[in-house]
Amino acid sequence: MCYYVAIQKWLLEGKGTSLTSKGLQMNDDLRNLSLSGHVGFDSLPDQLVNKSTSQGFCFNILCVGETGIGKSTLMDTLFNTKFESEPATHNEPGVRLKARSYELQESNVRLKLTIVDTVGFGDQINKDDSYKPIVEYIDAQFEAYLQEELKIKRSLFNYHDTRIHACLYFIAPTGHSLKSLDLVTMKKLDSKVNIIPIIAKADTIAKNELHKFKSKIMSELVSNGVQIYQFPTDEETVAEINATMSVHLPFAVVGSTEEVKIGNKMAKARQYPWGVVQVENENHCDFVKLREMLIRVNMEDLREQTHTRHYELYRRCKLEEMGFKDTDPDSKPFSLQETYEAKRNEFLGELQKKEDEMRQMFVMRVKEKEAELKEAEKDLHEKFDHLKRTHQEEKKKVEDKKKELEEELNNFQKKKAAAQLLQSQAQQAGSQQTKKDKDKKKNPASRNMPVS
Ligand code: GTP
Ligand code: MG
Repeated sequence: MCYYVAIQKWLLEGKGTSLTSKGLQMNDDLRNLSLSGHVGFDSLPDQLVNKSTSQGFCFNILCVGETGIGKSTLMDTLFNTKFESEPATHNEPGVRLKARSYELQESNVRLKLTIVDTVGFGDQINKDDSYKPIVEYIDAQFEAYLQEELKIKRSLFNYHDTRIHACLYFIAPTGHSLKSLDLVTMKKLDSKVNIIPIIAKADTIAKNELHKFKSKIMSELVSNGVQIYQFPTDEETVAEINATMSVHLPFAVVGSTEEVKIGNKMAKARQYPWGVVQVENENHCDFVKLREMLIRVNMEDLREQTHTRHYELYRRCKLEEMGFKDTDPDSKPFSLQETYEAKRNEFLGELQKKEDEMRQMFVMRVKEKEAELKEAEKDLHEKFDHLKRTHQEEKKKVEDKKKELEEELNNFQKKKAAAQLLQSQAQQAGSQQTKKDKDKKKNPASRNMPVS
């Protein structure tokens, strides 16, 4: 990660023995030996340069700013190319982030550049949550890197690092002060990313107003405790330029990819009815300063700060959240292995406790259910007995009734038989009488004959 800085420092301090003497300051036990001939380890910096060059570099820029503030134009101007971008509408329901990666090459150096855009930033009526998707995006990139780091089989050397190295915060050229959205967003981001504030479309603001606007912004950032990226001044080669450039923050920039003829040269500029604003003219705007600071002088420092400061903070918080510590409660060093064991035991203990609780609960529920079932069984038995009794009574009643009816039937049959007998006797008697009457009619003399 910090190969380049190491190389720069090494080259600065001179190769060979001077480095050994520096080592001596750190450890008095080391003896300084002089070599009687060329060994070859002085090629180490070159080896590092070659290795880094062949691997290529990653650089990721996050552009935070309102819709139409000039983010895409500035990126095109900075990298002298035309990145694909389509203008956002002003009716996005929320803020979302759009990342696009490109492979760029300059001389023999390959750069994998990712530009992340905030789409719909500042367009909502309620802007309370506007910063959230940005924070989430930054954290997601840290998390992805952490997960890669924690893998058993890591491949960090060819890992596409998407962590944000620089956040260009586009301030609207109002000439007044920062909006609360700007302050809130920068405050939420300052511990996660290197913020470089810039005043966008600086050609729309007068020179004296710009000066006041810049100092107003800086004082507001200080009074609200917003930490912006500090250009490093601890390195001799860049200390001077970085110190002088810091004074010009926030950079007032103008973007344009249009070439205009100025004198006998073509230059990037914006043309107005009253004149021309040259992007690369330091009297017109701070574009050159921004390019110097962001790309030509501090690109590696931005990458290094991202890894050693912002990612380190994320990693520490995340590991602490997971229960990992470097020291035990008595401030004694605590190894990862021990932490893991302690955490594992704690987890197993909790698991056991939960298991016991669940078992007790289960037994209790079973007992409750058993009692409920017994009660239900008793009720059922009672109901069954009652039904049995009722059934027997009913049966007895039916049988009595049956007997009664049978008796009635017998009586009826007897009566019927007697009636039938009487009827047949009556019929017989009737027919005999009819016969006598017929005989009398046939033999009237016999009618007066005395009955013998
Ligand atoms: P979105 O992606 O839609 O959010 O817009 P953006 O922030 O990418 O802005 P973009 O670069 O598309 O520019 C929007 C308009 O502003 C275009 O008409 C640009 O020509 C103009 N513009 C860009 N930079 C400047 C500048 O420095 N000054 C002035 N005056 N206009 C600019
Ligand atoms: Mg754009």
